[in-house]
Order: sequence, then C-alpha cells, then structure tokens
Amino acid sequence: MLVDGPSEWPALRFLLLAVAMSFFRSAVSIDEAHLLLKEKMMRLGGPLVLTTKEEQANERLMMLKIAEMKEAMKTLIFPPSMHFFQAKHLIERSQVFNILKMMPKGAALHLHDTGIVTMDWLVRNVTYRPHCHICFTSKGIMQFRFAHPTPRTSEKCSKWILLEDYRKRVQNVTEFDDSLLRNFTLVTQHPEVIYTNQNVVWSKFQTIFFTISGLIRYAPVFRDYVFRSMQEFYEDNVLYMEIRARLLPVYELSGEHHDEEWSVKTYQEVAQKFVETHPEFIGIKIIYSDDRSKDVTVIAESIRTAMGLRTKFPTVVAGFDLVTHADLRSQIKIKIVSWPQPSGGRLDYRHWQGTSIDKNILDALMLNTTRIGHGFALSKHPAARAYSWEKDIPIEVCPISNQVLKLVSDLRNHPVAALMAIGHPMVISSDDPAMFGAKGLSYDFYEAFMGIGGMKADLRTLKQLAMNSIRYSTLLETEKNTFMEIWKKRWDKFIADVATK
Ligand SMILES: *[C@@H]1O[C@H](CO)[C@@H](O)[C@H](O)[C@H]1NC(C)=O
Ligand SMILES: *[C@@H]1O[C@H](CO)[C@@H](O)[C@H](O)[C@H]1NC(C)=O
Ligand SMILES: *[C@@H]1O[C@H](CO)[C@@H](O)[C@H](O)[C@H]1NC(C)=O
Ligand SMILES: *[C@@H]1O[C@H](CO)[C@@H](O)[C@H](O)[C@H]1NC(C)=O
Repeated sequence: MLVDGPSEWPALRFLLLAVAMSFFRSAVSIDEAHLLLKEKMMRLGGPLVLTTKEEQANERLMMLKIAEMKEAMKTLIFPPSMHFFQAKHLIERSQVFNILKMMPKGAALHLHDTGIVTMDWLVRNVTYRPHCHICFTSKGIMQFRFAHPTPRTSEKCSKWILLEDYRKRVQNVTEFDDSLLRNFTLVTQHPEVIYTNQNVVWSKFQTIFFTISGLIRYAPVFRDYVFRSMQEFYEDNVLYMEIRARLLPVYELSGEHHDEEWSVKTYQEVAQKFVETHPEFIGIKIIYSDDRSKDVTVIAESIRTAMGLRTKFPTVVAGFDLVTHADLRSQIKIKIVSWPQPSGGRLDYRHWQGTSIDKNILDALMLNTTRIGHGFALSKHPAARAYSWEKDIPIEVCPISNQVLKLVSDLRNHPVAALMAIGHPMVISSDDPAMFGAKGLSYDFYEAFMGIGGMKADLRTLKQLAMNSIRYSTLLETEKNTFMEIWKKRWDKFIADVATK
C-alpha cells in the first residue's frame, strides 16, 4: 500500500520505529535474562539447590567477595592477577580467604610426595636433628645425609660436614637458616626477574627436590614427614589425600636402604596412626609415579612394580602416573607406555599430567585415565573435552603451580575459567604447595574462587568442588559414602558459622 503524501511519512516511520524498538528491546531483555539464567545453570555447581541456611551463608560470602573485588577495581591491586609470591600476604588479609580456610574442602587429589610439608619445618626441625651432614656439589648445590659415622666423600660432592659443626662456623645462624629456606622453595620477591622462562624455574624446581631428598628419605624423618603432611592438610580442613609418590629408597643411619614395599607399608602405618588420633580423617592413598623422561624399558619396569604393589597393598596403592615437566622430548615415550597390559593387576593408568603439551591429554584419555592431572590445554581440544565430559573424567586444577611454573600469569586468564563456566568436571589441588610457600589447599581455592571463577562463582561452585573431590577420588563407593557423611556434617557446621557470624 502506498501512503498518500510525504507528510504521512514521519508518522509512519515513527510508528515503525516504535514497533521495532519495542520488539527489539523486549527480545533483548527476554534473551538476556534467559541467557544469564542459562549460564548460571551451566556453571560449575550451578544446578545445586541451596538450603535456606546455605543461601544466608552464600549471601554473606558474596557480599565479602564483591566488596573485595570492588576494592580491587579501585586500587588495581587484585591478588589473583599478581604472582603468588607477591600476592600471598595480601591473600592472608582477605576475609574470603579466611572463610575458605574454615571450609571443609574434602580431598586433595593431586599432590607430590616431597612437596607438601612446609619447608620451614625441614629447616627448623629436621636440619637440627643429630647426625645431619651437608655437602656441596661442584655447582654449589647442597646435599644432606644423616649418617653415623660421617660418610666417606664421594666424587660428586665436597667433604661431608656435620651440620652442627657447620653452623658453629657460620657468622649468623639466623641468616644461614634463612638461606637454607630460600634454597628449599621457589619463593622470591622478584619472580619475574629471577625466573625468566619455564626452563629456569623448572631447573630450580628440580634442584630443590634433589637438595631436600636426603633429608626426607631418612627413615625417621620420612615417617614424621608423612605424619606432618596429613596434619597440615587436616588443619586446613582436608580429610583425605592422594599422593603421587616416587617411592625412592629410604635409608637408615647405618646406610641400610629400604625398598618401595617398605615405603608403602610405612605410608599405611603412619596413616593408621594419624587416624587413631584424628578419627574423622579418611586416610591417604599412593599413586606410584615415575619420571616420564626415563627410558621406555625403565618405565615399563615401574609399571610392573606398581602392579605388584597394588596387588600387595590394594587399599593403599591407587594407580600409576608419569610425572615431570611435560615437554617435547618426552612425548614419544608416553605413547609407548600403553603396551604393558594393565589387565592382570587391575591397575589404572590414572591421572596423567597434561601441562604444556596438549598431546598428553589425548594419550591419557586413550589409556582410559580416570583423572587428568592439570589438563591445562583441555579447553583447546573440543573433541577431547567432549569425550572427557561424556566419560566423567575430571581435570585436577592446581592454579598456583600453573602460575609459578609459568603456564599463566594472571589467574583470571587461566584457561580453566572457560571450563568452570560450562561446569566441566574438575577438582582443585595444590601440587607442591611447600615449594611455592603455600600450605594445604586454601590458597589454591582462593585463586580458583576469586580469580578463575570470576565475579559469578559462589557457594555453589565451592560446594561442587568439595563434593567433586570426594566423588572423583579412588575410594570405594562405600568409603565415598562414609566420607560424604563426615564431610556433610562439617559442611553444615561451616554453613551455620558463616551464616550467623
Ligand atoms: C622435631 O619435631 C619432633 C616432633 O615432630 C620433636 O619431637 C623433636 O624434638 C623436634 N626436633 C627438633 C630438633 O626440633
Ligand atoms: C643475624 O641476622 C638477622 C637477620 O638478618 C639479624 O636480625 C640479627 O640481628 C643477626 N644476628 C647477629 C648476632 O648478628
Ligand atoms: C643457598 O644456600 C647457599 C649457602 O648458604 C647460599 O650461598 C645461597 O645464597 C642460597 N641460595 C639462595 C637462593 O638463597
Ligand atoms: C580402554 O578402554 C577400552 C574400552 O573400554 C578398551 O578397549 C581399551 O583396551 C582400554 N585401553 C587400555 C590401554 O586399557
């Protein structure tokens, strides 16, 4: 239909515009609300329905969280965007962090045997025990050994000196102990200057393991170390741990060495002793791990050892893992690891460490892994992601480790943020907290909640993460149920505390 005169045009146009606008606006507002709701439901923990008490606790938690984030927007000082070494003291002042410390976090599923007890204890307690000797390699790297009498000099290290005598010679013992501590962790106030690239930080990381090994592998210290690791996590409201252990030989003062079986038995005995005095603690399990840079035949041998140990200690040994810096050199060997048949000993190829090299994730999935260590690259592999989703295979996210080892700098940009937004199965863990100057799980929960989770992650996310850690553990179904009951009781108490305080 033709409109009569030009004078009619403005009116008509206005009318059309008004219709279009209102249509457009309502369409947008419907879609926006709809999309937001949809995203809320997709998020990790989104579908959880909170109780009235939990809603109250959530309100209070989110009030604190948003206040801290708003403050950070003003000051531009936001701990998850900073390096952990510089952010740690700020995190400790956060009220959200204090709530996270109180929170029952369930289990820590991705930890390494010699990186979990605060290094301060090694310095102030272990190096002060009698018969502790020190020597320096040609590169100036320290080594320790407990022995009596003083061990003979080897060509790899300087003369062994009794640490007690060495301390008498140093000018200032406090300063010496501080320098030991600096040698035992990666912590520095200027990480960006000291650790210019991944290789530099990895090299120091390996040097630390080498240095502290002689302390931890001394039998009496080993027992105390295992006990203390449980204690530190228990104090951080973690009730169960799965520890990746190399099971290197443990030695006695006489120089006598123990084998892997002795170590597994010791883990078991010490855990039982800990549970006697901490009845709510569920226990620990060992994931026997080996260095993936080793020769294929050596790895095949360790898989056989792992299967043997699992047969002997079915309640303690949970699986097998290859650990180390995932780089190009080691790719080929992982693939070949699939040949030893895991059928006989029912050993699962668990928990593959997929840090920087994407292909590790695919290999792990092909080996029917039940969890993926780190899974840093998973969001870049839609098919692998879909597959792990379908098979309910979670990733083990260790935010601080990823940052310190230079995979990501600002934790708001951690690739797992996208996976958290779609509710991909995951757990939070702390890898080697003692190496990073952290402790337990709370620091990593803080980074995950405030940094990776962004504004929207709330109590539902936290609750889901804690429940996931129980669900994806290697415990038996009945054990998981018991664990869940104990956790739930603690959770309810935590909720009541947060809601009313
Ligand atoms: C180290 O700690 C243990 C308890 O874990 C204690 O019995 C021992 O006396 C301490 N040793 C030193 C040298 O501080
Ligand atoms: C030793 O060093 C510490 C830390 O640098 C210092 O506080 C202390 O005064 C020094 N002690 C002596 C006896 O010089
Ligand atoms: C490690 O210890 C040695 C010997 O005490 C010291 O000279 C060095 O500065 C320490 N390293 C660091 C990074 O503090
Ligand atoms: C993984 O599981 C599939 C199907 O369940 C099976 O065919 C395959 O042999 C398994 N692979 C390994 C390495 O166990």
